[in-house]
Parts: sequence; C-alpha cells; structure tokens
Amino acid sequence: MTDHARIYQDQAEKYQLLISKQPGLVGVMEEIRTCKGLDIVDIGAGTGRLTTVLAPQAKSITVLDASEAMLQVTASRLIEAGHTNWSTRVADHRKLPLEDNSADLIVAGWTICYLASSNVPNWKENMYDVIAEMKRVLRPNGSIIIFETMGTGTEFPDPPEFLKAYYTWLVEEAGFSHKWIRLDYEFDNTPQAEELTRFFFCDEVANKVREQNLIRLPECAGIWWLHL
Ligand SMILES: C[S@@+](CC[C@H](N)C(=O)[O-])C[C@H]1O[C@@H](n2cnc3c(N)ncnc32)[C@H](O)[C@@H]1O
Repeated sequence: MTDHARIYQDQAEKYQLLISKQPGLVGVMEEIRTCKGLDIVDIGAGTGRLTTVLAPQAKSITVLDASEAMLQVTASRLIEAGHTNWSTRVADHRKLPLEDNSADLIVAGWTICYLASSNVPNWKENMYDVIAEMKRVLRPNGSIIIFETMGTGTEFPDPPEFLKAYYTWLVEEAGFSHKWIRLDYEFDNTPQAEELTRFFFCDEVANKVREQNLIRLPECAGIWWLHL
C-alpha cells in the first residue's frame, strides 16, 4: 500500500508532475460557482492544482494543507505566476485557522477522503467536524466544492470500497449535489506512465500500464457541491 503521507512530506514535486498530466478544473468549478471576486479557501490544497487556477479570479485565496512541503510547491507556483492575493498555512481540516463568516467558497480536492475512509474508525465524526468547520468559516451564501476519486484505470465510476459510505453520506446526510467527470491522465510516454502510476497508485495499475503500453490512463472524478 502506497504511503501517501510520506509522499506529501518527501515527494511533493513528483506528485505535482503526476497531476500535471490531468486536465485543468477551472471550467468545472466556474459551472458550479462563479469565482470572480470571491474570498476562497483551498483546504488540503497540496501543490496547488485548484489554487493556481482560482487565484487569477479570486479576491483572495487562503491555501491550507497538513504538509508544509506541499504548500511550498504551491507558493512557488503562485510567486512564479505573479499573484499576490494569497497566503499559505499548515492546518488540519478539522480545525481551520480562519474567522467565522470570512469566505465565499471552500474547495477541497482529493483530500477529505483521508479522514473519511471507512478504514478510519471515527470517520463520521471527522465528517461532522469538517463540514461544521467549513460552514462556520463560510458566509451565509457560501459554497463548498469537493473533488474525490471515482476510480483509477476505469472508464466509468467504480469508487474504492472504503470511500463508498463517505460518498453516500455527502448526498444523503449532508445534502450535497453530485456528478462525475472523466479526468484522464495523458502521459508523455509509457515508461513515464508506468513510473508515475507505480509511484502513487498500486502495482496492479502500473503493471496494467506496462502490459498494455498505455499513455492515456482513464480516471473518474466525483464532484460534490453545496450552496448554503
Ligand atoms: C491527493 S493530495 C490533493 C492535493 C490537491 N488538493 C490536489 O487536488 O492535487 C492530498 C492532500 O491532502 C493533504 N491532507 C491530508 N489529510 C489532511 C488533513 N487532515 N488536513 C489537511 N490536509 C490534509 C495532504 O497533505 C495532501 O497535500
């Protein structure tokens, strides 16, 4: 089993290389909530996949993550792009270091899953805490957009068993709307595809990439959103 926590500490740049092979998501987020002029918070922001495309539109963007190493990559990317409307801070999803009623939009990409997997004994308590924190920080007309995996190497949604209860909870108990999209990886060549998939996913996926000479690896992403 891949040790993702270690990757987020020691191999942030390699994680960024992997996700740079997927399409951008600004259009998907704009369809749910127009981002121009908003105070935005990206929780579990990682290397800035969502932050870097929201920053040009945002009034301000607060970039939070448990890993300082991941935040450093985001900060470098924002500086390189010339943005000045941002700040980064190490924080856990369950205790956001932000004022009540201080944001219009909170985004969370592939990150809440680490607290919400059914392998985590208190996953439901974690979810109550995370959603309560987001609602506390949001203004009355605020919105939440969550992205999570619906399956790697699959053309149609086939989420991991340990995330199914969390996904059902978001819709049935927390009132989120939901849809899914394809977010395929488009690698430069098969050796790169094999190396990057073995780095982050299981050997089974990487072996399939090698055996089938794949450059495009299908990926399904789930999107959940809530307008307060
Ligand atoms: C798969 S990466 C996603 C990064 C980014 N959102 C993206 O879309 O590429 C997961 C990120 O969540 C962060 N993370 C995991 N658990 C967290 C927690 N409890 N609180 C804050 N960040 C967390 C990790 O440090 C990592 O940067």
